[in-house]
Amino acid sequence: MKIRTLYQSIITVAFFLPLNIGASHAQSSASIWDGAFTDAQATRGEADYNANCVSCHAADLRGNSNTPSLRGMSFMFIWEAKSLGELFTKMRTEMPTDRPGSLSAQSYVDILSFILRTNQFPAGENELATDTKLLNQIQITSKPASN
Ligand code: HEC
Repeated sequence: MKIRTLYQSIITVAFFLPLNIGASHAQSSASIWDGAFTDAQATRGEADYNANCVSCHAADLRGNSNTPSLRGMSFMFIWEAKSLGELFTKMRTEMPTDRPGSLSAQSYVDILSFILRTNQFPAGENELATDTKLLNQIQITSKPASN
């Protein structure tokens, strides 16, 4: 029994160690750097942003003295290591502040795509879906070092 347990721990360590080291390298499924949205979707989102968000967050997404920036370092400072699901939920449940949740889920996910494009995340082949479970799997991360 004891030996078996020891044997199992060795196998477990041997199995997971290389996986963990490799994880930052080869993100298995959904990486924000693999193209999480399409360009057309971000362009749709831009129109919805201009209709619903621009008055506070500004045309360049940098916000104003009362409203946080949605781009660059200040955006990454808040959102890095969080998921697209969290950002989507924040937008859906609290924005615009004067009428939260007033847009369709599709419109929020399109605006999310526009915010991602503005932050230099790459567009890809498939649209970002409104499925919160899937959105929860995509982490907001800084650009992986190219090698
Ligand atoms: C009436 C002004 C106003 C409008 C319109 C508005 N926002 Fe905001 N937004 C704010 C303020 C103020 C905050 C900071 C307080 C907070 O986080 O709730 C904020 C925060 C946010 C945040 C969190 C930013 C962070 O880094 O903490 C996101 C994301 C966001 N807004 C997205 C949107 C989107 C998308 C829209 C359009 C659908 C929108 N906002 C419309 C005022 C506004």
